Amino acid sequence: MNNYFTSTIFRKILAALSGLFLTFFLLGHLAGNLQLFISGVEGQTQFNKYALFMTTNPVVKLLSILTYASILLHVVLTLYLAFKSRQARPIGYAVSSGNSNSSWSSNNMAILGTFLLLFIIVHMRSFWYEMHFGEMPYQYLDDGTKIKDLYLITTSAFNNPLYTLFYILSMIALALHLKHGVGSAVQTIGLKLPNYEKPLKYIAESVALIIPATFASIPIYLYIKNL
Ligand code: HEM
Repeated sequence: MNNYFTSTIFRKILAALSGLFLTFFLLGHLAGNLQLFISGVEGQTQFNKYALFMTTNPVVKLLSILTYASILLHVVLTLYLAFKSRQARPIGYAVSSGNSNSSWSSNNMAILGTFLLLFIIVHMRSFWYEMHFGEMPYQYLDDGTKIKDLYLITTSAFNNPLYTLFYILSMIALALHLKHGVGSAVQTIGLKLPNYEKPLKYIAESVALIIPATFASIPIYLYIKNL
C-alpha cells in the first residue's frame, strides 16, 4: 500500500486529476471573464461586483486555495514525471511512433507547461496581486458605496499591444497543452474504454480549442475597443 502512494501510476493519476480540476477552473474563470464583453457602466458595475464576490465569498476562497494547490501539485508532479521518463530513456526514440504519448509530445508538454506557468505568474501579478494587495482605483456606485475597480485595471491592461500579444501567444500554448493534456488525463484515469475512445478524443480536442480561443477573444476585443 505504502508503495502505491509513491508509485509512478499514483503520481500520474494525481497529475491527471489536478489537470482536470484546473480545466474546470478554466471553464468557470472563462464564464466570469465573459462579462468583460458588457460595455459601459453596466458592464463595469457587474464585473466589479463579481470580482468583489470572488475575492470575499468563503466558498470561492476555498476553491481558490484548491486552485493554487492544484497548480503547484500539477507543476511538481508533471516535471518530476517528465524527468523520470527522460532518465529511463536518455537517448530517445530514433523514429517517433506517432503515438500521442511519444517522447516528442511529453517534451513539448514540459515546454508548454513552463511557458504557461510564466503566463500565470505575469497574469496573477497584473490582476490578482493588484486586487488583493495593490493600490486600486474605486468605482462609486449609485447608493454611495465604493468598490475596487478591477474592470478598469483589466480593460486598460489591454491598451498595450505587447501585453495583448503575450496573451494571444499564451492561449495558443494553452490550446496545445490542453489538446494533449485532457486526452491523456482521461486515458490515465481509465475512462478510455474502446467504445468511447473516439467521442472522448473528440470532446477533449474540442475543449482544448474552445476554452483558449474564447479566452483569446477577450484581450483581442478589449485591445480593439481601446484603439
Ligand atoms: C485571457 C483572458 C483572461 C482574463 C481577462 C483574466 C482575468 C483575471 C482577473 C481579472 C483575475 C483577478 C480576479 C481575482 O483576483 O479573483 C484573474 C485571476 C486569475 N487568473 Fe485569469 N484571466 C484570463 C485568463 C486566464 C488563464 C488562461 C489562466 C490560466 C491558465 C488564468 C488563471 C488565473 C488564476 C489562477 C487567477 C487567480 C484566481 C483566484 O485567486 O482564485 N487566467 N484572472
